[in-house]
Amino acid sequence: MPVQPIRITVLGTGYLGATHAVCMAALGYDVLGVDVDQSKIDALSSGTLPFFEPGLPGLLAESLATGRLRFTTDFAEAAAFGDVHFVCVGTPQKPGSHAADMRYVDSAVTELASRITRRALIVGKSTVPVGTAERLAQLAREVSPAGDLVELAWNPEFLREGFAVEDTLHPDRLVFGVASEWAEERLRQVYAPILAADTPLVVADLRTSELVKVAANSFLATKISYINAMAEVCEATGADINLLAEALSHDARIGGRFLKPGLGFGGGCLPKDIRAFQARAQELGVGHAVAFLDQVDQINIRRRVRVLDMARELVGGDLSGVRIAALGAAFKPNSDDVRDAPALDVARMLYLEGADVIVYDPEANANAHRVYPDLVYADSLADAVSGADLVLLLTEWDEFREADPVALGLLVRSRRMIDARHALDAEAYLAAGWEFRALGRPIGTTVDQERRAVA
Ligand code: UDX
Repeated sequence: MPVQPIRITVLGTGYLGATHAVCMAALGYDVLGVDVDQSKIDALSSGTLPFFEPGLPGLLAESLATGRLRFTTDFAEAAAFGDVHFVCVGTPQKPGSHAADMRYVDSAVTELASRITRRALIVGKSTVPVGTAERLAQLAREVSPAGDLVELAWNPEFLREGFAVEDTLHPDRLVFGVASEWAEERLRQVYAPILAADTPLVVADLRTSELVKVAANSFLATKISYINAMAEVCEATGADINLLAEALSHDARIGGRFLKPGLGFGGGCLPKDIRAFQARAQELGVGHAVAFLDQVDQINIRRRVRVLDMARELVGGDLSGVRIAALGAAFKPNSDDVRDAPALDVARMLYLEGADVIVYDPEANANAHRVYPDLVYADSLADAVSGADLVLLLTEWDEFREADPVALGLLVRSRRMIDARHALDAEAYLAAGWEFRALGRPIGTTVDQERRAVA
């Protein structure tokens, strides 16, 4: 008898789930994406992605056209369809707490497992507090008519927004957290095309696999905050953080990735993950082991405050009524995600200080408007900077990097620029008559002028 191909469901069609569903279909599987939000399901079924992600719309269209990818809100259909069910729902920060809000994960597993009547594997991908998988495994067994035939495994995701397809189809590594050989075998089958490309695989217990994710994100956040802490020291001494970071990056033991100084990290993962990790570690009685993550968080937040200080310094002390163009709202370029976005946070703080702020982001204006409807949004870079007393580069989109300082200079009222992401050519801006400041670099300041004079 021919072996039935594995059928896959993906619960949750947000960033992670939609990407995973599309990529699994692209690998040749029959995939059913499931969400409780009918509008998301309608959009995806008609080929529209509810977020911006390069490369994904084309792959979604191709997968829909093959008939291998469908979407539904019906958990009974999902339970009947799937052999392997990936849980990709969100674990946001709980309101009023640092802990992760588990209600969506719990609900997805309950809704699905209570309808599963045969042997199946539920695979968690969401970022969760360590210990969750064992709890969910028990929950699934209890609520499912199939009882012990429903198993649970953990397979953390590591995808970066903007590189989601690449990171899913060609990951740096795969991690399988399993409680049985059968679960490992199933995951090996599902990921066979990716494992065939010599992708490193770590097979672990459930707890270790949950920890890998938060440990990785904590390390990345720490690396960014480390270089931003060095930027603070540079600011106090007149040293140059970009040169310092470059020198460090040539040390192969340190490496240059995630060592880019600037306005710091944001997004739907790093900030909430380091907070949830601290909350969970405290519950486990090892809060002291990750207490440094609080410093990592604070260093990160201080960068935003530093931009405000710089803005105040540049305009003579008082921001009220000052017309400011805030370039960027997304938490990083090539994304329309504004969750915990440093750029939007700076715009909000400027607004609260009475500045006349105009925000422009090539992709994230609509999302930013939903979060902060009081801010004014421009439709173009030119509209944003027209008549500005001060321009702030807050998200390093190519459109901003490539802008001509001479042409921009003709639009603004005063040529003052703060480059919070080290994205611009300082010399070109200075040559075009701009007052120019960058976080952690002495450009355009007295120290820089002295240095230029010496040179
Ligand atoms: C991150 C992790 O990289 C990914 O593995 C995980 O699964 C989800 O969280 P993502 O949130 O998409 O991915 O963004 P990432 O590219 O990691 O950037 C996070 C933030 O750090 C951004 O705000 C970015 O601007 C900032 N950053 C990144 C720096 O400030 N400096 C750097 O050197 C790198």
